[in-house]
Amino acid sequence: MRDYLRATDFDSKTTVELFKLAAAIKARAKNREYLDVLKGMSGVLLFQKPSLRTRVTFELAIHQLGGYAMYLSPAEVGMGKRESVYDVGKNLERWVDLVIARVFAQKDVEDLAAATRPPVINALSDDEHPCQAMADFFTLYEKGVDWSNFKFAYIGDGNNVCHSLIITAANLGVEMRVASPKGYEPLAEVVAEAQRRNAVSGGKLFVTNDPREAVRGVQAVYTDVWASMGEEHEAEQRKVVFQPYQVNAELMALAAPGAFVMHDLPAHRGEEITDEVMDGPNSIIFDQAENRLHIQKAIILECMGQTKRVAELLL
Ligand code: CP
Ligand code: NVA
Repeated sequence: MRDYLRATDFDSKTTVELFKLAAAIKARAKNREYLDVLKGMSGVLLFQKPSLRTRVTFELAIHQLGGYAMYLSPAEVGMGKRESVYDVGKNLERWVDLVIARVFAQKDVEDLAAATRPPVINALSDDEHPCQAMADFFTLYEKGVDWSNFKFAYIGDGNNVCHSLIITAANLGVEMRVASPKGYEPLAEVVAEAQRRNAVSGGKLFVTNDPREAVRGVQAVYTDVWASMGEEHEAEQRKVVFQPYQVNAELMALAAPGAFVMHDLPAHRGEEITDEVMDGPNSIIFDQAENRLHIQKAIILECMGQTKRVAELLL
């Protein structure tokens, strides 16, 4: 059993194995054939921030694996306020087999994991969104991309999603280019860790302040909101800073012909991305959203030590 708290918790081998497993799980789900490996087990979703995709897909994932899922909203629990993170973890481990947490501080999800015997999965923190990055690269895997010849641009805030994408790209040996405004670049330690992984995987990472330079010739362009949850008070000021980083038809024209358009959602249409691009023929945005469900089943199985058993059954 293991936690999944940061993208660095999975290596290249695990990442690719989970893509294969998720593809097999997804193929069966098309016929509404589900597994029951979590029969008699339960998981709790402990969320300090709002959610559409993450909540629905984790609840369904647990249910479709035969388990029972409980959702605790930001208004409940009061982790770190009503009672300590440690005490929340010590309670939960007496009842449930899996904890999925969406938090502000990365430290909270790590402290929770340290206090809790069952696996803890990070469902987004201020620093990371590892399940999102797995879904995004699983979506590209399904499209049959060749990682060693794949160039991927992330345009916008060097945020949680960007960090998890950087590490997952490095695990796969992808060439990734990040363009962020000055002062909004990804964290230096994440970049350094990616460079260490790239030395082994053959991937590359460039960070620039020029979106046009980043996008030139790439096969996928990814963006995310300019102000993340918890940064709403900066939204107006960020709109000015990030305007040159909008993913629109003009920017996409610099990418390779047919380049994929990607976004983790929710999108602020007309800000970081235009309708034209988001609803255009090369958008795989809703495939990414769908795939949260399938890859998270594989992630849950990995964290619960069930991957081998299920792989033997399905692959
Ligand atoms: N992409 C994503 O995590 O969406 P939610 O915030 O709606 O869960
Ligand atoms: N960066 C965004 C991602 C939402 C899924 C946020 O943290 O709000």
